[in-house]
Amino acid sequence: PAKVTTQTVVDMKRNGEKISMLTAYDYTMARIIDAAGIDVILVGDSASNVMAGYDTTVPMTLDHMIYHASCVVRGVDSALVIADLPFMSYQVTSKEALISAGRMMKEAGVHGIKVEGGKPIVNTVKKIVEAGIPVMGHLGLTPQSIYKFGTYKVRATEETEADALIEDAKKLEEAGCFSIVLEKIPAKLASAVTAELSIPTIGIGAGADCDGQVLVTHDMLGLNKEFNPRFLRRYADMHTDMTEAVQHYISDIKKGDFPNEDEQYGG
Ligand code: KIV
Ligand code: NA
Repeated sequence: PAKVTTQTVVDMKRNGEKISMLTAYDYTMARIIDAAGIDVILVGDSASNVMAGYDTTVPMTLDHMIYHASCVVRGVDSALVIADLPFMSYQVTSKEALISAGRMMKEAGVHGIKVEGGKPIVNTVKKIVEAGIPVMGHLGLTPQSIYKFGTYKVRATEETEADALIEDAKKLEEAGCFSIVLEKIPAKLASAVTAELSIPTIGIGAGADCDGQVLVTHDMLGLNKEFNPRFLRRYADMHTDMTEAVQHYISDIKKGDFPNEDEQYGG
């Protein structure tokens, strides 16, 4: 299949074709997801939770994200690969943000980066885009700001917050973002934002009217039993499948059933 570019996803919105996005943090998963035909792969800083076992995305470093992103890039033939810039690699100054984005692109080989937030980072987004690095925005629930908000509850349920989010989305589009993730906001608000913008919105817990959808791969595969938000649809029960496979293997070893004659070498 043809390589997906940032222009492809913008055209998909124009043509009314929905955009599919999943996360990946390593080569093997990226290969499977890419070969299955996904449009966009996000090397999310959810790697902090999923790969590293932290409670938040705050501890993730730029070096760790570059490592994950480089592993993913080696597994991908056609998907557009976007990587999160982690907390504090782009908030201090536009200059530092540009250096972080440039390192991510040069060292990992991703096609673009994602940053969280609206108005406070608009100028930075402009600078990164001007340097030739595509930027995806991220509004609504922005996990890097968890200690400011205090909870992972649905965002922008109040009118003032909703109005501010629409303004932020417009500013990000003006600044040159090619797409915006909308996380955990009312479906009606996501629908309004999507109608307002000519760049595609990609929702997670943001309803059916977004131009695309994203889930964390480990969640949608059912690898994770503990995380049960309303928006999550599980497409497999890999936690059970893996547990049973491991138990089967253990039991075969204990019984002396593994390896059998065909599984050992003669001579
Ligand atoms: O880090 C991540 O996985 C994300 C998506 C949930 C949008 O930012
Ligand atoms: Na993220």
